[in-house]
Amino acid sequence: MNSPIEHIYPIFDKILQKEAKEKLLKQKGMVFWVTGLSGSGKSTIAQHTEALLHEAGFLTQILDGDNIRSGLNNNLSFTPEDRIENIRRIAEVAKLFADCGIVTIASFISPTIEIRQMAKEIIGEEFFYEIYVNTPLEECENRDVKGLYEKARKGIIKNFTGIDAPYEAPENPSLKLKTTNCSITNSSTEFFNFILELLN
Ligand code: ADX
Repeated sequence: MNSPIEHIYPIFDKILQKEAKEKLLKQKGMVFWVTGLSGSGKSTIAQHTEALLHEAGFLTQILDGDNIRSGLNNNLSFTPEDRIENIRRIAEVAKLFADCGIVTIASFISPTIEIRQMAKEIIGEEFFYEIYVNTPLEECENRDVKGLYEKARKGIIKNFTGIDAPYEAPENPSLKLKTTNCSITNSSTEFFNFILELLN
């Protein structure tokens, strides 16, 4: 059987390059990859941090689990294979945004070291920063904002991260954010300052 990309001729080198767009926007295209358990606070921190960046004059884009899974990836489940495909597509999209000079915040459970390594390889090590929202399972389950942990415990939802599917914490993240005894404002400000230092 022919390879699906056998008769494909990419023109990556012929299109306007990242640097030209970064110059226009006066900023750098980077991907901040936010990982953590469901209900750990990833989306909320991403939203607050994006608002701070916007106020400071940066062009940003958030890619977020529930949003992407209701559109681009609405044909994917939570099996290990589909989680890999979920993250593969998202990493490709994040790379497109970063190549456009946009400060991109990707917020996904992305549960394994291998899956995040794949994202890093697709995006390029130079433009990839791993941010770990380190909220313990017990606290995510106590909060249970979406009521999903209760359903997972009852067996209504299968393959739920932290319950009957694995979560591997990053070994050496670029930034670790704690949300226990730390307000969203504080975590987001810490994240914002981290990004600002890289952009300046
Ligand atoms: S990932 O593991 O493939 O990276 P992703 O971040 O896209 O996950 O989606 C996670 C969101 O999907 C969770 O915040 C939760 O709202 C919802 N969800 C539904 N089923 C599951 C499940 N089995 N495991 C984890 N999250 C689930």
